[in-house]
Amino acid sequence: MCGIVGAVAQRNVVPILLEGLQRLEYRGYDSAGLVVGHDAKLTRVVSTGRVAELTLKTAATQGQIGIAHTRWATHGVPSERNAHPHMSNDLIAVVHNGIIENYEVLRIRLTAGGYVFTSDTDTEVIAHLIHSHYALGNSLLEATQAALAELVGAYAIGVIAADNPDQLVCARRGSPLLLGVGIGEYLVASDVSALLPVTRNVVYLEEGDVVELGRSGYRIFDAGGRCVERAVQVSELSNESVELGEYRHYMQKEIHEQPQALADTLESVCNSQSLVPGIFGAEAAATFADIDSILILACGTSYHAGLVAKFWLEEIAGIPCSVEIASEYRYRISVPNPKTLVTVVSQSGETADTQAALNYAKSLGHIHTLAICNVPESALVRLCKLRMLTRAGPEIGVASTKAFTTQLAALFLLTLVLAKQRGRLTVSQEQQHLHELRHLPAAVQKVLEMEPLIARLAEQFADKHHALFLGRGLHYPIALEGALKLKEISYIHAEAYPAGELKHGPLALVDEDMPVISVAPNDALLEKLKSNLQEVRARGGELYVFADADTHIRAADGIHIMQMPEHAGYLSPILHTIPLQLLAYYVALQKGTDVDKPRNLAKSVTVE
Ligand code: F6R
Repeated sequence: MCGIVGAVAQRNVVPILLEGLQRLEYRGYDSAGLVVGHDAKLTRVVSTGRVAELTLKTAATQGQIGIAHTRWATHGVPSERNAHPHMSNDLIAVVHNGIIENYEVLRIRLTAGGYVFTSDTDTEVIAHLIHSHYALGNSLLEATQAALAELVGAYAIGVIAADNPDQLVCARRGSPLLLGVGIGEYLVASDVSALLPVTRNVVYLEEGDVVELGRSGYRIFDAGGRCVERAVQVSELSNESVELGEYRHYMQKEIHEQPQALADTLESVCNSQSLVPGIFGAEAAATFADIDSILILACGTSYHAGLVAKFWLEEIAGIPCSVEIASEYRYRISVPNPKTLVTVVSQSGETADTQAALNYAKSLGHIHTLAICNVPESALVRLCKLRMLTRAGPEIGVASTKAFTTQLAALFLLTLVLAKQRGRLTVSQEQQHLHELRHLPAAVQKVLEMEPLIARLAEQFADKHHALFLGRGLHYPIALEGALKLKEISYIHAEAYPAGELKHGPLALVDEDMPVISVAPNDALLEKLKSNLQEVRARGGELYVFADADTHIRAADGIHIMQMPEHAGYLSPILHTIPLQLLAYYVALQKGTDVDKPRNLAKSVTVE
């Protein structure tokens, strides 16, 4: 949550900061602001709207050093006074992503020392703390290091001082931050997309790093205060991958990118004739030989991917699997088993709850850890022994789409590799699975052709306030995912149930105003599902059924059938996800909501 960008250059940095903020807006968008240094003074411009509004207010602002921020509110309502950057005595300006847990104690102490607080944020204590050390004659770097030593919590920060036009100091602990290395100009940002207009050369910072940037270079100090070298890497991210192109929204673009994202994620496997544990890391074979169960930890959409994987792992690989919501697991007394493979699933790799759950699992004695993640340099990837990177490319829309389906692909590969290692896959079964995986991108492409049909269907949801999603077995998590997509971007209250559970309560909700959306693959539970659908229809519920071609579910009064092009066996959850994403997207268009930036949400949840 919250995006940070900062720059020190030989030119006006305001356009660099604004462009960077635009690209980070997915991280939070309830206010935006910047501070630039010019003529020994700091100019602060903030806006409660989006970056576009900030841009209008900064037409006359100039400076060769600056920091900027786009906010997702934690402490204090979205307002100009709570917008970052925060200042101390017109001398120090700070942007911050994260949460300072001991801010109340610090606030009391600083107030007693004469500091006046003008916001409700935790960040303002950082500005005053740095000021208090700077006023004693310390350099900006030393003052920042001294202030950071007093903070408890998570942060990525950028700091500048009015009387120091040549230096920008930044630091990270628990929140992402990286450097951009230009020619005679240096940048800092929460993610690489914000740096691309200026440079591809990036330095990923480690936990506890503090950096001093000037126009002629930078110095990195590690958590122990030692000056260290960190490798400069060339980002492979392309500018086009973060631009909207021909699409109306990022979500629509990202839904359409799924065939390519899946092909990229599966590339190394599909190009080979057999499955090898090495795709999860050099130590994977030895680790997999030492495990007897899997524990998947994740949040939101990534949790739903874990729920699908449980079916695959138990049925195909014969390995017990439990799936837990990270924010629950981290506070639960559980029984650790050192032979469990703790698998964290995350698009961003920065989700605070998932990180905390992983660290908690480690503290309980779990030694085998695997990250399935879309961001190579993210915290979760670094914290795990094994990794499988999904190659979905940047996902900008707040509602996760291509990250989810590529997570499913990665989890299916995990299943197959474990099944093979455990002697549960014959050579011909392995070849058959590989064949189906190679076909998957084309199969998804075919499902995308349902888009015009779903766009028309969505019109029937324009006046709805509630929706019920049904699925069974492997597809129940897909019903959950469909309901999550619909509620987060269209604000329609949506719930998902395993269809067999209807009669145990939720059937009471069904009447002619309750659309019931069902995922109906042609699998072993089809006949059971059909009976459940009859139960709905008998109570006047309007049914919208996404059915495989050979299910023989017929359209009738109150039963709308959207025919899926083909049945994909174990990979069917991936195909059935696509129309539910499209449905949510087109219903949101009907409702006129902000599809890519739904209210109250942000893309990367780096706070608890
Ligand atoms: C919903 C969505 C969220 C995320 C969740 C975890 O569309 O995107 O539910 O899945 O916040 O985020 P990651 O996967 O980055 O750990």
